Amino acid sequence: MDVLLGLQWGDEGKGKIVDVLTPKYDVIARFQGGPNAGHTLEFDGNKYVLHTIPSGIHHPEKINIIGNGVVIDPLIFYKEIKELEGIGLQLTKNLFISRKAHLILPTHRALDAASEAAKGKTKIGSTLKGIGPTYMDKTGRNGLRIGDVVNPDFQEKYKNLKKKHISLLRQFDYDYEEELNNYERLWLDSIETIKRFRIIDSEYLINSYLNEDIAVLAEGAQGTLLDIDFGSYPFVTSSNTVCASACNGLGVAPGRIGEVYGIFKAYATRVGSGPFPTEQINDIGEQLRKNGNEFGATTGRPRRCGWLDMVALKYSIMLNGVTQLIMTKADVMTGFDKIMICTNYKDSGFPGSQFPFEISTSLKPEYSEFQGWQNDLSRITTFSDLPEQLKHYTGFIEDELKVPIQIISVGPDRSETIIK
Ligand code: GDP
Ligand code: IMO
Ligand code: MG
Repeated sequence: MDVLLGLQWGDEGKGKIVDVLTPKYDVIARFQGGPNAGHTLEFDGNKYVLHTIPSGIHHPEKINIIGNGVVIDPLIFYKEIKELEGIGLQLTKNLFISRKAHLILPTHRALDAASEAAKGKTKIGSTLKGIGPTYMDKTGRNGLRIGDVVNPDFQEKYKNLKKKHISLLRQFDYDYEEELNNYERLWLDSIETIKRFRIIDSEYLINSYLNEDIAVLAEGAQGTLLDIDFGSYPFVTSSNTVCASACNGLGVAPGRIGEVYGIFKAYATRVGSGPFPTEQINDIGEQLRKNGNEFGATTGRPRRCGWLDMVALKYSIMLNGVTQLIMTKADVMTGFDKIMICTNYKDSGFPGSQFPFEISTSLKPEYSEFQGWQNDLSRITTFSDLPEQLKHYTGFIEDELKVPIQIISVGPDRSETIIK
């Protein structure tokens, strides 16, 4: 089983690249996160954003699995299904859901919103999809799972957990009732959509595929710097986003992992709160946001933009055991005279090459400077035709990270991809 995951703060272009790589695989499986993810695919002039469903779904002959490590909001799932069935995809044949995946309840969303509101200025900047409260219930051993949906006592279990949540919600100074009631009505209806799909023991199925040499690609959500253990805590998501999570989130043993594709943008972005050492709150950041259309695929929020950060990337590569790099959005860097890469942190209180426990505002990124390029990259199809300045930029990154860049993405469309 190969794994593809983000090395930064999410939105590296995982959706696009999984779609590009899908022809090489038989099965695509999501292993963590939930509808906080927004994975964008573009082809034939159309754009699709997936939140829960794996990004191999536009290849009808491939199997797509939502693994046990994923948290599912049936209403968001229903909306995704409706859109995809609307373009003629017959999903019940090739989309399977793990019996052990946890359910996001309407009250999980309300708790997420109440908790963020109570944090005020120190809020995480959550997507407010109920991710944190759902994983809390999972580890707290209170959660409801997809397998519960088809059991006769589901309504009773649902009511009991909802009751617990309501008593928690009452402790917040937060007006949740109207939105909760509206959401709940639709949510309860959407449970029927879940039942239309094959609910499977995904760990058995995936291991049987692997025993038969059927090729599986595990698709990560979020990015390494949002990992609950290794990210910039507490400004992180509530799941492990690193490679090891593909084992937990699918029930696959570590020794079965083959290639680990680490994906990063040619620069850096972050959406939500939290430290971002190379952030450019200036014209450079504006230019990156504008050129890269850096607005969240799930929330529409503007993404914070900055230069590439080698300290962070080296950390991510170490944690994930990355064997191949994929660099996206090279085209967005067109037009800069000079491009910077952060190679060290000064005054972090930690050795400069180490990602610190806490990133303080006194930390100063040290940069190396590179010549920019002015060429339109979108029509380039081979590595050798790329501008020399860009080859120099990628060469420096490879030397520093000691992992080869195998794919360079030069536009959002499926076709705008250079495979070395
Ligand atoms: P994901 O969460 O990692 O799947 O990434 P998102 O879909 O949230 O964000 C990536 C955005 O960049 C999407 O709008 C993609 O269509 C777009 N994108 C992906 N690769 C490229 C690229 O090489 N160039 C440009 N300009 N856009 C890209
Ligand atoms: P994809 O898969 C970028 C961020 C949120 C917030 C923090 C916690 O599209 O790359 P949560 O909703 O999990 O409680 O939010 O994590 N975040 C993401 N940022 N891409 C994502 O997913 C993200 N999923 C969560 O903005 O800062
Ligand atoms: Mg995204």
